[in-house]
Amino acid sequence: MERIVVVGAGHMGSVIVRGLLDGLPGVEVVIVEPSAERRASPDGRAEVAAAYDPRPGDLLVLAIPPQAFESFADGLSPKACADTTVVSIMAGVRLETLASALGTDAVLRAMPNLASRVGQSMTVLCPGGQVRPDGVERAERALSVIGRVLVVRDESLLDAATALVGSGPALVAYLAQSFMGFARGSGFAAADALVLTSQVLRGTADLLTEPGVTPESLYRQASTPHGTTAEGIATLREHRVGESVRAALEATTERARELAG
Ligand SMILES: NC(=O)c1ccc[n+]([C@@H]2O[C@H](COP(=O)([O-])OP(=O)(O)OC[C@H]3O[C@@H](n4cnc5c(N)ncnc54)[C@H](OP(=O)(O)O)[C@@H]3O)[C@@H](O)[C@H]2O)c1
Repeated sequence: MERIVVVGAGHMGSVIVRGLLDGLPGVEVVIVEPSAERRASPDGRAEVAAAYDPRPGDLLVLAIPPQAFESFADGLSPKACADTTVVSIMAGVRLETLASALGTDAVLRAMPNLASRVGQSMTVLCPGGQVRPDGVERAERALSVIGRVLVVRDESLLDAATALVGSGPALVAYLAQSFMGFARGSGFAAADALVLTSQVLRGTADLLTEPGVTPESLYRQASTPHGTTAEGIATLREHRVGESVRAALEATTERARELAG
């Protein structure tokens, strides 16, 4: 039976485990979590272990903090990962570092996001050059239980993906806070303000998936000359909101690059 081992039962690890249990019923799922307190398996369907006990052919998903990686790798026996495909979701830990610390070239990096909690992650997956196509497919299939997966071959794209995808929900939530504040200030109750804001975001996201629709075509279509939306867009331009958002993404990317060393 195929086995997937998830190391780290924190926010992301737990969500991935739940997704695997629900989405890939024929797969054996094991959680590795050294903390006895956290070792309570989500709904008891997954096996829980205090340490990784390798089995040939494992898919190992590393969902631990980057600063815990060195001690995790040091705790493994020298050939532990020789026949393992490793997917790391740790921000900023390069493929080269993973491969040399784990003693295998079958390493992939992935950048998911918080929307995995609602099955709507956008995950960018980058395989190392030595990963066989079936290894990429396996990793893609495992991560698709938490949302959509885009495979890229250029590892340097992961710094931008960390900003766009990893930090994306927080950046969008910050902008959504202005919609909320406006709705509250206009007299809507807090609960209604949240429904209005979230439904506008959801509807816009769905419109952008229609064939031929782009952000520009959408806002141009909605902006009749001298109409209300045109006034709003003109004000956003005047305040250089587009440039500010781009600067925020560039600063986030730069920080991701610095942290990766
Ligand atoms: N949260 C996000 O939106 C997001 C997005 C993309 C990528 N990531 C990446 O995902 C990883 C996990 O993030 P998170 O938010 O889930 O963090 P988290 O909630 O702090 O979870 C990390 C878990 O790993 C456990 N752990 C630490 N060292 C371990 C070891 N040696 N062996 C096994 N388990 C160990 C921790 O246990 P203790 O608490 O007992 O130490 C904790 O349960 C990070 O590397 C982060 O960069 C997160």
